[in-house]
Amino acid sequence: MNRALPDVRLRVPTDEDAFAWHRIFADPEVMEFHGGKAAELSVYEELTARQRRHDAERGFCLWTLLDESGEVIGFTGAQPWPHEWGPKGEIEIGWRLGRAHWGKGYVTAAAHATLERVRAAGVSGVVAMVDARNERSIAVTRRLGMELVETFTTPTAQRLGHCYRREL
Ligand SMILES: CC(C)(COP(=O)(O)OP(=O)(O)OC[C@H]1O[C@@H](n2cnc3c(N)ncnc32)[C@H](O)[C@@H]1OP(=O)(O)O)[C@@H](O)C(=O)NCCC(=O)NCCS
Repeated sequence: MNRALPDVRLRVPTDEDAFAWHRIFADPEVMEFHGGKAAELSVYEELTARQRRHDAERGFCLWTLLDESGEVIGFTGAQPWPHEWGPKGEIEIGWRLGRAHWGKGYVTAAAHATLERVRAAGVSGVVAMVDARNERSIAVTRRLGMELVETFTTPTAQRLGHCYRREL
């Protein structure tokens, strides 16, 4: 693809970002593969606080993603895989965007920046776990040059998850 990627900014999530994430992700389309409905504010308060700890300990986290004008549009970044099932012990990269911001290359731009930062932090490979039906997210893994390496069934929802991997 020859189109220029948009300019994006990544920052360690602030307390206020929990409110922004809560607001922009309260959309059934955004949550289609994350339980189907809006999550409580407390979920984002815990998630943003956990990301600040990851940043302090490892130098990377799921960062708040801002567009050219400084508006919060979602998150992209990396964290240790947070579950007992799946690719335990791996660093996962992940992304979520408010619906109004899909289709513009923001996450691809942010994910490339993530790969550079995580490589600089000394990580040698990353995974992405994606619901097998989540075509938009699978397209992101393709743009990043990731390879399907394993499939998992999620323990609660019993969904098929694809695990993509890329060396850094
Ligand atoms: C998954 C998700 C982040 C993908 O968002 P996205 O905007 O499609 O992803 P990208 O940033 O890679 O953008 C690609 C789109 O921008 C377009 N685009 C524009 N300029 C571009 C550029 N320079 N480079 C790449 N793509 C560009 C692409 O054509 C594509 O649009 P299309 O699918 O309509 O053809 C988004 O759908 C989302 O947040 N979903 C809900 C949460 C979720 O499922 N997260 C993933 C869990 S694993």
